[in-house]
Amino acid sequence: MRNVDENTITADALSRIQGTADPRLKRIMSSLIRHLHDFAREVELTEEEWWQGIKFLTDTGHITDDKRQEFILLSDTLGLSMLVIAQNNRKPKGCTEATVFGPFHVEGAPQYSLGADIANGAQGEDCYVDTRVRGLNGEPVAGAMVEVWQSDAEGFYDVQYADLKQHRARGILRTDEQGQLYFKSVLPTAYPIPDDGPVGRMLEATGRHPWRPAHMHFMISAPGYERLVTHVFRDDDKYLDSDAVFGVRSSLICHWDRHEAGGQTPDGRRNERPFYSLKFEFVLNPLGQRPDALLTPMPGPGHSAEVRRTAAPR
Ligand code: BEZ
Ligand code: FE
Repeated sequence: MRNVDENTITADALSRIQGTADPRLKRIMSSLIRHLHDFAREVELTEEEWWQGIKFLTDTGHITDDKRQEFILLSDTLGLSMLVIAQNNRKPKGCTEATVFGPFHVEGAPQYSLGADIANGAQGEDCYVDTRVRGLNGEPVAGAMVEVWQSDAEGFYDVQYADLKQHRARGILRTDEQGQLYFKSVLPTAYPIPDDGPVGRMLEATGRHPWRPAHMHFMISAPGYERLVTHVFRDDDKYLDSDAVFGVRSSLICHWDRHEAGGQTPDGRRNERPFYSLKFEFVLNPLGQRPDALLTPMPGPGHSAEVRRTAAPR
């Protein structure tokens, strides 16, 4: 078709992809073209603004490598990641809700036995975590593999330190016969997502802060259940209602008890310093409840043996 105008161009662009063999790709591309064109018409996009958009995406690509994934950060901060997670993790009432995966998970984290100190030298206030993993029908999930990772007192993950020699405040543990999972670590603190790149500029230009409320990450896998990727948040955090990546669910907010020095720890000892304790129960969705569902694939294409660090090392 010749002489398309600002309105007829959409139908012409759609007609060009009629031969797409893969029906899913055809649906996605058609929708993308329609929404992009509608967007440009709605805001009456100028050529200068179009160029700024191209430049922004180019900068996003240039700063992305195998350690830093600025496109995922962009998706996270635009609310797209959480939208996709929400629509792919509709679970029966009672199951623990999923939230964002984030860029700081690492393959090959150290394995610990129950009760271990997974802080492994991370700075922060002592924190005893006591959790239980069960299925939707109440049954304990024994032998579940639980990966834990979190920020330290400075708001940094171990992989954000340039001189990292050993993993800190992260580990892999397995639930016991009763589905119990407990360990010692440090209290996680709020932190800003990496904001020294295009995403940071976008946040600033739109009047947003880069902070995430304090949380601990959990990824729980067990045969017969959907994998759960989630966090537990601290209920005393000022960023709970303005998380930079929209990841907060009320059901994941928990009170972390503070104890004075000398208090008895959950494992029956006395702690010399003040400490915190967290109790939380995770409820997994049995497989087969959602035959149409994607089985929570690993979020993000960069998930590999590589660390997906998203900021320059300190
Ligand atoms: C995180 O919780 O680790 C995270 C999630 C999304 C973007 C940046 C960090
Ligand atoms: Fe995090």
